[in-house]
Amino acid sequence: MSAVFAQTDRELWLLTARDGEQVGGLITTCVAQASIVPELPRVLVGIARHHRTWELMTAAGAFALHLLAEAQLDWVWRFGLQSGRDLDKFFRLSWTLSPHGTPILAGAAGWLDCRIETAWDAGDRTVFLAEIVAEACLMPGRVLTMNRVLQLAPQDILQRLKVCRLQDAATEAAMIAQWRQTRSGA
Ligand SMILES: Cc1cc2nc3c(=O)[nH]c(=O)nc-3n(C[C@H](O)[C@H](O)[C@H](O)COP(=O)(O)O)c2cc1C
Repeated sequence: MSAVFAQTDRELWLLTARDGEQVGGLITTCVAQASIVPELPRVLVGIARHHRTWELMTAAGAFALHLLAEAQLDWVWRFGLQSGRDLDKFFRLSWTLSPHGTPILAGAAGWLDCRIETAWDAGDRTVFLAEIVAEACLMPGRVLTMNRVLQLAPQDILQRLKVCRLQDAATEAAMIAQWRQTRSGA
């Protein structure tokens, strides 16, 4: 972990996507507003290619981003610590489809419905630039951030977060190394 990034805090986002009957989602902190033009809102997200949700959003060309309140802390564990390949992350959650057909979870503090405009391969992850086509801000106020999640997480979850992070880092390190090798050989 960079000592510089350790001085910062980031919002946690829950990203959802749908390909036909298949729905999925994950937690991401790699999200940035990417336009200052009020009538042309855009966002950048970085999602690792080995995640199930990457497959869904790439197939759909669309995704939704949800901001979470503290009341949705358990969604961080549900969506961020296990893969949708192994279980149905939407089980018993209430959700609807956005006008563009992406799952929107009921109760989130706010959401952005996004259509992918272009994407760049960065080895471990793909950086997606998307147009925001609809949004809602339902509970303005304090939203969940990485530092707050670390304060609120029970010990066993902190351990699972650590293990998942180490596993993802190992997978992503190999992908970055392979990508760099391909580029240096080109
Ligand atoms: C706090 C936190 C932040 C995360 N940030 C990212 C991120 O920025 N990009 C990413 O690709 N995965 C990120 N992840 C990992 C995915 O959310 C996680 O591996 C998820 O289980 C993948 O699910 P899927 O296979 O169903 O898509 C994060 C996880 C946590 C817990």
